[in-house]
Amino acid sequence: MSSTVDSSEALEVKGVTPPRLSPFLTLPPLLTRDLLGLFEKCSTKGDIVRLDLWGFQLHQVNHPELAQEILRDKGKVYRKGRLMRRLKTVTGEGLLINDGDTWLRHRRLANPAFTPSRLDGYTETMLRSAEKLVERWRAYPEDKPIDIIHEMSEITLTSLLRTILGIDFDEDFDGFTEVAHELLGEVVDRNSNLFPLPLSFPTKANIRFKEKVSKANRIIEKMIEHRQRVLGNEDKPVDLLGQWLQKAQEDEDAFSPSEMRDELMTMLLAGHHSLAVAMTWTLYEIARHPEVQAKLQHEVDHLESLPTGLKELNKIPYAQGTLLEALRFYPQPPVILREALEAHNVGRFRFKVGDQLLINPMAIHMHPDCWEDPTTFKPERYVDFPLEAMMQHHYLTFGGGSRVCIGRKFSILEGSLLLTRIAKNFHLSPTTDEPIKPLFTKMMGPDKPLTLKVSHRA
Ligand code: HEM
Repeated sequence: MSSTVDSSEALEVKGVTPPRLSPFLTLPPLLTRDLLGLFEKCSTKGDIVRLDLWGFQLHQVNHPELAQEILRDKGKVYRKGRLMRRLKTVTGEGLLINDGDTWLRHRRLANPAFTPSRLDGYTETMLRSAEKLVERWRAYPEDKPIDIIHEMSEITLTSLLRTILGIDFDEDFDGFTEVAHELLGEVVDRNSNLFPLPLSFPTKANIRFKEKVSKANRIIEKMIEHRQRVLGNEDKPVDLLGQWLQKAQEDEDAFSPSEMRDELMTMLLAGHHSLAVAMTWTLYEIARHPEVQAKLQHEVDHLESLPTGLKELNKIPYAQGTLLEALRFYPQPPVILREALEAHNVGRFRFKVGDQLLINPMAIHMHPDCWEDPTTFKPERYVDFPLEAMMQHHYLTFGGGSRVCIGRKFSILEGSLLLTRIAKNFHLSPTTDEPIKPLFTKMMGPDKPLTLKVSHRA
């Protein structure tokens, strides 16, 4: 236990209980499942606010310094929150939800697959997917509205499956993309419902959900066997599964087959929808802001060649900033959940064992103490700011502290490479003047179909 925690225990008696949001304000958005509306109301009432209604209790954290105290300084006093641990049915003991020594071991074993040189190994696949998208969009009639979320979902899933499983899906495992899509949709839906019926209730939805989990599990197990068979004496496998299987041949402490299954499912779950939705909002904001689109096109048009790897990302600060800015406005997921393992204080507030905390990145990303002109979409704000330093303070898109997203560089790499190809080849424009808002039922997806017109650049 850290010394910070010991000293905070001494303060416990003095700490105050966070103020409670009135039930009259809590109930209506809970009934209509307008969770973002609820979080927004809560964020205007204080740095930490208690939602407490009929046994449903969460403490919402709205201040950057308090959020970092939880994520970074006192990480050991928490485990993943109760709502998050529901994912266990799908991910088993995967990284997203495990804790303590199991987490430490899994993170140590998974980290090598995300080093800069490994990430560079994934770029060929990422670029192949981006080129396919450009070809497909060029073949569409110019005025036809394109369903962006569908397109981004397809490309990020195919690319993630190839980079993590090293199998060509078009040929070997036709159909898995569909199963993975369905399962991911169900998981996101279920997990953004604060009151789902326990899985042990034999409702139609629960039975369907369990069937999808089993089907996906069977396919992933088959894929592990298949990859093991074709691995042979490959020198340096570029896919994540190949690397883990090779390590298992050399090292007793490597992931076992069932741990690999859990982690592959975790990577799919954590990595797919988040990036697809992030890219969708990025393209939407580009289409809505002609000045942003012009600067982005200027940046890519003045490059000798488009970037092809991690080292070259410094050539495209504006493109990277555009993706990061979209993620500031639409963090995926819009909540970071923790459960207190012991009594302690955060700032002047007191928590007891079992308290559920919800860190609200939206409030922190709009906090006027940290962001100049926070409601304006400004990709240039990241140019002189090292991302890793920002993540230690007021940029929580990828979480923070030791549980920070393992796939953050992967996402920035894939997202930026894709963005440069889109900006070079196409001009995007909105299909409606009506604003499209985020809705927390499909991660942070759009509340209505998000289509864009895509015209070809010379
Ligand atoms: C735009 C894309 C992404 C966003 C916004 C995002 C966001 C996040 C956030 C906020 C967390 C922290 C959750 C918490 O503290 O409770 C997290 C954790 C995680 N993410 Fe990501 N993620 C993205 C992409 C990816 C990708 C591509 C992968 C894998 C290929 C991935 C794998 C993970 C894993 C395994 C964890 C758990 C890490 C741990 O606890 O050790 N993520 N992500």
